[in-house]
Order: sequence, then structure tokens, then C-alpha cells
Amino acid sequence: MAEQLHIAESTDKVERYKTLLPQIESLVHGEKDLTANLANIAAALRQTMNFFWVGFYLVKENQLVLGPFQGPIACTRIDFGRGVCGTSWKEMKVIRVDDVEKFPGHIACSSDSKSEIVLPVIKDGKVIMVLDVDSDRLSDFDDHDEAALRKVVGMVERFA
Ligand code: SME
Repeated sequence: MAEQLHIAESTDKVERYKTLLPQIESLVHGEKDLTANLANIAAALRQTMNFFWVGFYLVKENQLVLGPFQGPIACTRIDFGRGVCGTSWKEMKVIRVDDVEKFPGHIACSSDSKSEIVLPVIKDGKVIMVLDVDSDRLSDFDDHDEAALRKVVGMVERFA
């Protein structure tokens, strides 16, 4: 695939995801390297959707460790059950937070982050990483974001 992303001109997020998802599929198709694929997915999501921060935390020795991401620098390690990421890992479910200041134990990597969605990537019944997306606007993630990001996570589960 050409290393260029076609980004829909529409401001409608559903349209933008619709154009993006098959391109992510082609980006990772035929590439076996996990870091390369996660890096391109983070870049493609940020470029297309203008998220404040998007990246992966990988489970390593009972902690989440910062992996490929796009955005400002972030905390490198998160304990099981801590913050939104650690909670998504512990509960093995998608967590959407409309206002991060109202989430008990939220880990503030940046005060500019206002809302967040975290999705666990599950392999053989275990969380192996999480996809974390932050927005600098309150309540920025809705069912459309969740559905599209679940599809991205589905792709990661296939190659991870
Ligand atoms: N806010 C996250 C920490 C990671 S940063 O947002 C990149 C959390 O509470 O788990």
C-alpha cells in the first residue's frame, strides 16, 4: 500500500471512519511486525480524526507499558486497575469517560485531555494491550467512535 492516507474531506466522523478503516486494513496487511503495525494505526487514527492523543499500552510483566503512540509524551507505566487504562485491563471492557476529572483515579498525563476511551485488546482470553484515545474536548466519544475503534481493535487482535 502507498504510504499515503486518503482522508475524507467530510467533517462527519462516520464518513471519516468509513474511509479510514479499509486503509488501516491495507496498512497492516502483509506486515508481521507488531510495533510497525501499531505505530501506523496510531498515526492513521490521529491524522484522520485529529485526536489529542492516541496510542497503545502493552501488558508487560503485570504492568501496562507505553507502546507506539501519537501525541504529547505520556506516562510510561500503569498498574493493573489504575486509571482508565488499568481499569479497562482489569475489567476487560471498553471504558468511555466523558469528563476525565470525574473518573476516580484517572491518570492525568496532560491537563489538556478532557475525555477518553480505552479499549482492551484480548488474545486467548487475556488482555495483551489497550488502545487509549484522548480528546481535548469533553464528551468527545460516542457510539460511532466506539464502534469504529472496536473494529480497529478487532484487526489488532487478528495480527497480535
Ligand atoms: N489517562 C490514562 C493514562 C494514559 S494517558 O491518557 C496517555 C489513564 O487514566 O489510564
